[in-house]
Amino acid sequence: MPARLPKILLDCDTGIDDALTLLYLASLVRTGDAELVGVGTVHGNIDPATGALNTLRVLELAGVEGVPVAVGAGRPMAQDVHYALDWHGQDGLGDTDLPAPAGAPTGEAAAAQIVRLAREHPGELSLLAIGPLTNLAAALLLDGELPGLLREVVIMGGAFDHPGNITTHAEANIWHDPEAADLVLAADWPVTLVPLDVTHPTAVGEQWLTKLAAHDSAAARFAVRILEFYVTAYTPVLKRRGAVVHDALAAMLITNPEVCEYTERPVRVERRGELTRGATVWDARSIPADDDRRASRVATGVDVAAFQDRLLAALLSLD
Ligand code: RIB
Ligand code: CA
Repeated sequence: MPARLPKILLDCDTGIDDALTLLYLASLVRTGDAELVGVGTVHGNIDPATGALNTLRVLELAGVEGVPVAVGAGRPMAQDVHYALDWHGQDGLGDTDLPAPAGAPTGEAAAAQIVRLAREHPGELSLLAIGPLTNLAAALLLDGELPGLLREVVIMGGAFDHPGNITTHAEANIWHDPEAADLVLAADWPVTLVPLDVTHPTAVGEQWLTKLAAHDSAAARFAVRILEFYVTAYTPVLKRRGAVVHDALAAMLITNPEVCEYTERPVRVERRGELTRGATVWDARSIPADDDRRASRVATGVDVAAFQDRLLAALLSLD
């Protein structure tokens, strides 16, 4: 029986690690190892309209055609919008001021696209969320049957036994819209959560960056160019030259789940804490959890070398 071809519906806030993840996904599409059925963009690193143009730029650079890109929610459900311009630049791609893409967004709202594609491909889609979860929450409100229509939901987000990155306790994708995140984690669909606990240890360093820069292709040159800004932002945090390509690890787990280890627990999002709003909370006590929320599969361990090697190989394959 041939292995199932993953059909991926991406929701992103195309910033720099989202762009590298799009290149990773493009490599899977080009080798016939996955299908990218659509992309939605959301507020977060940048506004969703700019995120959509950045997404189109990357897909065109990677030679991936015919993927609908839909602009989504421009703000969170219950707080002011905040962009991560210090980490991703004013244009979301490290202030590289790239030419406008040839294509344009479809005009469909990203949440409506999630519902439409889930109904067109019942039980088949892997919904990959690498930005704030506002579009996913809006889609859940649009269609109460949505959780039963998706194969899986893979989310880059959260922090458990690891500090937050946008506040002391909260990871950015969850913090950008805590109400949406808690709605998504409460829904009855199979969630894999990929938190900072596993993304931060995968931070690429000097040797990885040098191998990427040594490769002569348009995709590699683009990746090097947008990484310059991201590495500059990350180096003081890592205390060495490098950067964390958070989103690519979530994408990789769709085709290569063996790259991580997991535990299953219900996860909730703090929405009222003065200091902890946006934190992901689970009951890690040894007593049986009495939370009736569906458990999420949370990545707790990662094979760093496997991740870094696979990501580099994918980026170098895009000649
Ligand atoms: O916390 C990391 C997440 O926030 C990544 O998705 C990155 O792109 C930013 O959106
Ligand atoms: Ca992102």
